[in-house]
Amino acid sequence: MIVSETVHRQIESASWIRRMFEEGIRLKAERGAEKIFDFTLGNPTEDPPEKVQAALRKLVETNAPGSHSYMPNAGFPAVRRTLAESLKRDTGLPFTENHILMTVGCAGAMNTVFKAMLNPGEEVIVPMPFFPDYQFYIANFSGKMVPVETTEEFDLDVAAIESKITPRTRAIILNSPNNPSGVIYSEKVLRELDLVLERANHPIIVISDEPYKSFVYEGAACPETSSIISNCVIATSWSKTWSIPGERIGYLAISPRMPEADALYQACTFTNRILGFINAPAIWQLATAEAPDALPDLALYSEKRDLLCDGLARADLRGTWVSVCRTG
Ligand SMILES: Cc1ncc(COP(=O)(O)O)c(C=O)c1O
Repeated sequence: MIVSETVHRQIESASWIRRMFEEGIRLKAERGAEKIFDFTLGNPTEDPPEKVQAALRKLVETNAPGSHSYMPNAGFPAVRRTLAESLKRDTGLPFTENHILMTVGCAGAMNTVFKAMLNPGEEVIVPMPFFPDYQFYIANFSGKMVPVETTEEFDLDVAAIESKITPRTRAIILNSPNNPSGVIYSEKVLRELDLVLERANHPIIVISDEPYKSFVYEGAACPETSSIISNCVIATSWSKTWSIPGERIGYLAISPRMPEADALYQACTFTNRILGFINAPAIWQLATAEAPDALPDLALYSEKRDLLCDGLARADLRGTWVSVCRTG
């Protein structure tokens, strides 16, 4: 067989979302795009914010310096400086350009940090339900994913996490707001987790996967995980915030509170290169610095969210949903 046994097995277990996406394309052609609602890959339906489109137009029209070039593997220093300033305002932590690494989306960010930190057989704890591709990102570097139960409400169960910690535990992935449950982890539960991690006999890093940070509704606020958890790396992207998942732009931010932040940053800069990413897309790096605070129009999402939530509530599927999530 030309395909490795591992990848063959992974394709078998992971192909159903892609198959549904392909089926969606077929059905749209057969029945009309307006009749098919595709919830498979998380392709945003809205256009990128006008501010973002204007920034990109300006960069193209002026043929902005560097927009098609290589740059330092970590990304343009000026862009990283701008993002560090914005993160500093959000978290209160002294982020600088030397904590920010521009990446090929959030998936690129996660693969880059796992490549930099995981030794074969080391474990990554992942609260359920989770974005299914985590298992592959961890397996890419011979790590072992350790799923952990959450509460009835899909909130973190800190005692359950503590019970899964072994001498081989290197990291925990937190994704808040969570895909797929939508749950936001509270400051209280994050503080409890930080205490557990402080008690562990060795450093355990929280990888905070934050691509949905801007998507909060009804006055809710999403606590900054890195402000609460000492040993934290943020992985994020503009894929959802700006409706640009195909452009592949994101970043890793290594918390200045982490004792070995600089060593991990240097390692990630190297692994971003040797994984073949080399650097994040140049013109999109520049665009992020042009419009660092552009946000999605939440009113549009809110309307759809209400429609879907009301429909699900009427259909009374909660039991079914919970059992699907619990079994992965
Ligand atoms: C929870 C979560 N993390 C990471 C990703 C990957 O994001 P990106 O497309 O920016 O690589 C996704 C994409 O849907 C996601 O839902």
